[in-house]
Amino acid sequence: MYKLDQTKTPLFDALMEYVDNNTIPFHVPGHKKGQGMDNKFKNFVGTNVLSMDVTVFKQVDSLHKPTGPIKLAQELSADAHNADNTFFCIHGTSGAIQAMIMSVVNQGDKIIVPRNVHKSITAGIILSGATPVYMHPEIHEAVGVAFNVTPETVRATLEENPDAKAVLIINPTYYGVSTDIVKIVDIVHEYEIPLIVDEAHGPHLHFNNKLPICAMDAGADMCAQSTHKIVGSMTQASLLHVRKGLVDVNRVKTVMSLLQTTSPSYILLASLDVARRQMAIEGKEVLDKTIELANYAREKINKISGYYCFGEEVINKPGAFAFDPTKITITCKDLGITGNELERILAEKYFIQPEMSDLYNVLCVFSLGDTKESVDALIKALEEISCGESCNLGKKINIVEMPAIPQSVLTPRDAFNSKTVSIPLKDSLGQISAEFLMAYPPGIPILCPGEIITKDIVDYVEELKSANLYVQGTEDPEVNNIKVVSELFI
Ligand SMILES: Cc1ncc(COP(=O)(O)O)c(C=O)c1O
Repeated sequence: MYKLDQTKTPLFDALMEYVDNNTIPFHVPGHKKGQGMDNKFKNFVGTNVLSMDVTVFKQVDSLHKPTGPIKLAQELSADAHNADNTFFCIHGTSGAIQAMIMSVVNQGDKIIVPRNVHKSITAGIILSGATPVYMHPEIHEAVGVAFNVTPETVRATLEENPDAKAVLIINPTYYGVSTDIVKIVDIVHEYEIPLIVDEAHGPHLHFNNKLPICAMDAGADMCAQSTHKIVGSMTQASLLHVRKGLVDVNRVKTVMSLLQTTSPSYILLASLDVARRQMAIEGKEVLDKTIELANYAREKINKISGYYCFGEEVINKPGAFAFDPTKITITCKDLGITGNELERILAEKYFIQPEMSDLYNVLCVFSLGDTKESVDALIKALEEISCGESCNLGKKINIVEMPAIPQSVLTPRDAFNSKTVSIPLKDSLGQISAEFLMAYPPGIPILCPGEIITKDIVDYVEELKSANLYVQGTEDPEVNNIKVVSELFI
């Protein structure tokens, strides 16, 4: 099924050869295989990892102009992921997403994106100077989270904006919910523009058919994946996959080189090489175990009083076409505690650290590294908490309805580059925001840079704050003040 020999790990092997040759390092980094490093860190991490912390030279190749093992490793990765080209990114998926956006849109171009995007997408929009056109994702009221956008929403937005230069979607969301991406590919391609995909939470999808279809298999033109989030690479190590045709691969190469450091960590790069090997060779089997463990956890958690952990029953609700069972979203509002409180108890009392929490939910990410023991420890802790004194079964956790998306008068880039002043939120009506405002749930920005602050927005924030709910995004952590545009820089 693969064209190349997926058992090979050319970059990791080149590094091992360098280590085995006992090469004398007159190159950076200055710690020289750990010899010049403070003992406290060195004694803990050990010298193996430090001995492969090298820089660019012929034997180990260059990320910016690959001709040797990095080129081969990227080709193997493209082959494994059904892409025409793959780029290693050591700036996380945030870096890959910024490059993806800058590769397809320029100053003044329209890009259609869901409103509930990660901040790296807005960063890419700011860097490119593009104008975002937002699509509303569907909301699952019972768990209070944003699902995905529907194909119908994509079609309607394109009909209103036939001059858009690209469409971006998320596959799947943080909570594991995918849309009908195959249908969306067809719709977007009718306009002869690329569909680019934030697949931060889907690096494993291609390797097991019990999971939603991945962007490349669905026919998307580019996707950015956090290999480090679910598959076995190290933190910050991500992939950017490209399909030739609607995307200029040379442009992607140039942008990736523009954004990435000239001193990439070879430890991170090599971890992408071996993570790809593992997935290509044994991905199906290891993911089968992960899915089985996650389904076991979901079933058990759903039997504990006060929790709800959604599963396949959400499929076919608007914005939910397929579901990744490895995402365990524990809705705890019926226990009378917030997701944030549940996360705090798990972390402080049981030393169990979930991925994140919001008002209603705690999200636990399952992946290749989980064991039956660790999952049972989570279940036991949840059982204890459910009958413990922190819970208040009568208490209702409410959320208030979000205001409409406000009018945008500046691109995020112009707002970002303008002179700003920080003023009290209550006095900011009619001003142009230079900052974000986000509320969890449902994790959708209330306000983005360049948008006009309305009374509904100010009232909504006050209401959330008075209910001790999460509002974030402004430089002022208390969200009493907000930065607004005081002088345009255009
Ligand atoms: C949906 C989504 N996209 C992109 C990113 C950025 O990924 P990274 O942390 O690898 O930069 C995240 C991170 O959590 C995310 O949740």
